[in-house]
Amino acid sequence: MYKNLVRPILFLFDPEKVHYFTFSLIKFLYSIPGGPFIFKTLFQVNDKRLERELFGLTFKNPVGLAAGLDKDGVLVNEMDALGFGFIEIGTLTPEPQPGNDKPRLFRLKSDKALINRMGFNNGGVKAGAERLRKRHPGILVGGNIGKNKWTANEEAYKDYEKCFEALYDCVDYFVVNVSSPNTPGLRALQEKGPLKEILNKLMIKSSSQSKPKSILLKIAPDLTEGQLDDIIEIVQETKIGGVIATNTTISRAGLLETTASLEKIGAGGLSGKPLLKQSTFVVKYLSEKSNKSFPIIAVGGIFSPEDAIEKLEAGAALVHLYTGFIYEGPTLIKAINKEILKRAR
Ligand code: FNR
Repeated sequence: MYKNLVRPILFLFDPEKVHYFTFSLIKFLYSIPGGPFIFKTLFQVNDKRLERELFGLTFKNPVGLAAGLDKDGVLVNEMDALGFGFIEIGTLTPEPQPGNDKPRLFRLKSDKALINRMGFNNGGVKAGAERLRKRHPGILVGGNIGKNKWTANEEAYKDYEKCFEALYDCVDYFVVNVSSPNTPGLRALQEKGPLKEILNKLMIKSSSQSKPKSILLKIAPDLTEGQLDDIIEIVQETKIGGVIATNTTISRAGLLETTASLEKIGAGGLSGKPLLKQSTFVVKYLSEKSNKSFPIIAVGGIFSPEDAIEKLEAGAALVHLYTGFIYEGPTLIKAINKEILKRAR
């Protein structure tokens, strides 16, 4: 029904407006009596064999919502009811910020892709934390954190520390995002020096807590093999919990969309189907080169159960969806979990 009826209507309108309209619709449907029950009956797959133990946490299934869709954590209960095993909120920054000028989100229908240059539009980490404290119990949430646009890279670690402190009691794990292409200079923080500084400072903060929380690093798909080797070294040296691979790409290779149309859209990160192979390559490379020494959450271009299985076979422990969820609808989560169960027999 989603692909044949709902999506064709939604895709007639501006992508960002549809994004917020869909939020309101999901919230409304969930709020009517019996709504949560219907969501859960239609979409959830509950089976012990789907559970995964990682970072000292129990994930009820390995299919999570990727960062960026529910940046401010306004839809956590609803996304849980739609069947996600865990939800990543953010990227949140210390202070609220409006993000880039609109339009900043574009559909590439023939490529089953999106291009976005949102620029970390969010209501700030304090508002996010307040909201997360009110979520239903038992929902596993990752806190994806970044820096404000106006913060210089030399001072960036302070922004990550502020977010870390504000979210500490209300998320289950953290993600350091240094890989968004839409905050000028952010990706330079993926270099060894600045990255180690940020991660070490957060690790010190975490270990001083009575219950330390895992810190993961989210990386770009555009890193060279040499840079991926550096990432492995950094993860092992700083002893962070793992890696999320990958964020959106700045590449436009192999797209069906015309060059003229791509030029008109302009800068931004590409997500969806065209990202699948490159992001799976990154997962496989990290997993093999590190001898599976840390867990990886795989994200990028998952549109079918087979795509998810490919990521898991490449060495991922968990997967994340974003663009595939927009194109395929919530039944994709269920289909992936069912396929995993089929193979677990
Ligand atoms: C994103 N993504 C993202 N990632 C992140 O770490 N912080 C963020 O704020 C955002 N924001 C965001 C906005 C939009 C509109 C999109 C499409 C994506 C990246 C996302 O989490 C994921 O890594 C990529 O989109 C690749 O996965 P998919 O979309 O191909 O499944």
